[in-house]
Amino acid sequence: MDKDKIVALLNQDIEGEHGAVIQYLTHAYAMGEGEMACEIEAIAREEMRHLDWLAETIVELGGVPSLVRGKMRMGGESVADWMRNDVLLEEDGMNLYREHIKTIDDPEIKRLLQRILSDEESHHGDFQHFVDKAQRKGAKDVRGSRQDKVTQLLNWGIEHEYTVILQYLLHSYIAKNREVKKQMEDQAINEMQHLGWLAEEMVGDGGNPKIEHTEVDRSTETADMLRADIKIEKVVAAEYDRAAKEVKDPDLKKLLQRIRDHEIYHTEVFTDLLKEEQS
Ligand SMILES: [Fe+2]
Ligand SMILES: [Fe+2]
Ligand SMILES: [Fe+2]
Repeated sequence: MDKDKIVALLNQDIEGEHGAVIQYLTHAYAMGEGEMACEIEAIAREEMRHLDWLAETIVELGGVPSLVRGKMRMGGESVADWMRNDVLLEEDGMNLYREHIKTIDDPEIKRLLQRILSDEESHHGDFQHFVDKAQRKGAKDVRGSRQDKVTQLLNWGIEHEYTVILQYLLHSYIAKNREVKKQMEDQAINEMQHLGWLAEEMVGDGGNPKIEHTEVDRSTETADMLRADIKIEKVVAAEYDRAAKEVKDPDLKKLLQRIRDHEIYHTEVFTDLLKEEQS
């Protein structure tokens, strides 16, 4: 089987993982604080690791990891319905991995997919268990319908954070320089924290987080990537700063200032990397 064909199959798997991450995070955030929400977030983190392994394999094969978000099974009237959708999404994933394990002949890649499949089987069991648990414990959708300047600001932040998570992950996968790779991955993880904080704040404030992203920079040269990343960091640091000054709620103000400080740090890290890259 030629490399391009394997890359195409692994990109299908990546897209599935991407959809799963967003579906599960949406469910976890919508349930508010609690044990089950934490467990679902932990599953979403495992899907992110799968995405990471698949992306690294694709790059080794000379391909580019897809950023397309695969199918999600949203909707449902209750938390138990959401958990049923999560069971079904795991089944979609399991079927796809089984098919790809059969088609791909490279033993190392087969082994990786087998490893991921065993996680999906375990998630499948977890979500089946969560269907019962949601019914027993009367788990609820705690999101509200608040729509004002604060929820607009939070959704702006969520959209930005999701965009840079994808952008920095992509840059970390395709950059050749080891330090750049490491920093991009670290900062992508930091942006995931920001996304989580903003989404939790949104739900706590009676809003409904919308996890959508805008255009991702697809530069292929390291210096171009860093320039794009610095540019976006400067814009958002200024925006978080402006917003922090404007909001009245002291906790939200503190949160925005904390994120702003991280973004300033990112700007500085990326600027140093660009200097090194150009010297
Ligand atoms: Fe899974
Ligand atoms: Fe951020
Ligand atoms: Fe940042």
